[in-house]
Amino acid sequence: MSFNGYKDIIEEDDTVILYINPQNMYAIRVQSTIENRKGEKVENVMQTKYGALKISTLFGKRFGSKVNLSHGWAYVLYPTPELWTQTLPHRTQIIYTPDISLIMFMLELKPGSIVIESGTGSGSLTHAMALRVKPFGHVYTYDFHEQRAEQAQKEFKTHGLSDIVTCQCRDVCENGFCDNITGKADAVFLDLPHPHLVIPFATKALKSSGGRICTFSPCIEQVMRTCQVLKDCGFIHLKTIECLEKEHQVLNRTVIVPGLLSNQPAGGDQNGSVEKKFVACVPDPSPRGHTGYITSATYVGDQPQPEPQQDQDDS
Ligand SMILES: C[S@@+](CC[C@H](N)C(=O)[O-])C[C@H]1O[C@@H](n2cnc3c(N)ncnc32)[C@H](O)[C@@H]1O
Repeated sequence: MSFNGYKDIIEEDDTVILYINPQNMYAIRVQSTIENRKGEKVENVMQTKYGALKISTLFGKRFGSKVNLSHGWAYVLYPTPELWTQTLPHRTQIIYTPDISLIMFMLELKPGSIVIESGTGSGSLTHAMALRVKPFGHVYTYDFHEQRAEQAQKEFKTHGLSDIVTCQCRDVCENGFCDNITGKADAVFLDLPHPHLVIPFATKALKSSGGRICTFSPCIEQVMRTCQVLKDCGFIHLKTIECLEKEHQVLNRTVIVPGLLSNQPAGGDQNGSVEKKFVACVPDPSPRGHTGYITSATYVGDQPQPEPQQDQDDS
């Protein structure tokens, strides 16, 4: 199975997304049998809100097909990084697609980029970055938690990403990144509690000039420390942003138009006021909350930094 490509027909060991509705999606490994608690092989039957699905019935079906559950139906979709982020097994907090898009934009990732990530966590961002930098780029990802690094590495292999992703168990605050990527990285991304401790190592890993760095931190105190160290280590163009989604709802509204005008339409009340109905676009009063601050900067090393530009009015 591969996230890195496309095929039509579902086969044994593929990963598929069972889509019931936007709130009910599951990532499934297509295996006809599984081991029960006693270690015996039993038929693989998945239970959903809308009844059971025998996994063996998926063999030979086309991706995108409708399949019957015992009390309803669902669709079997080809896995994408966005669907994987919504369905993956959580081993840690993860980064979601709106932040992921912004992070990849701020890191200026493109096919061929070499990017370093720490920590790997549940691999949510890693999947998206791998598909952005393929076919010639590479993601080097590190986590100091042995089981997490191992599990993530297994997933990258199962998903056909081992040629694009290298995952290692390493404490990057203590030891930095591996020597084989010194001076080769186009971008570094940090999602761990003390990003400021890793920035000096990032300067060694990044290409001598123009490399990008991005950190994701929930607290503003982390951002303050990060920005100070970024400045001290030869980074410029520092910017911190937060990605907040604000939905707009389309609603029917009624307003009373006071009878102030001489050409007021007929049918108003005794003051000439009339009720007017219209369709309005209203911002959601409770937008989704804070996730994290995304701080980005460009590495220029020891190069002379440009003079700050003066306003023309000052000259
Ligand atoms: C919030 S999770 C990362 C989630 C990931 N960005 C995702 O989208 O799935 C943070 C990870 O950083 C790892 N970590 C924390 N400190 C570290 C360090 N010094 N070196 C390497 N990994 C570290 C933790 O083990 C944890 O798995």
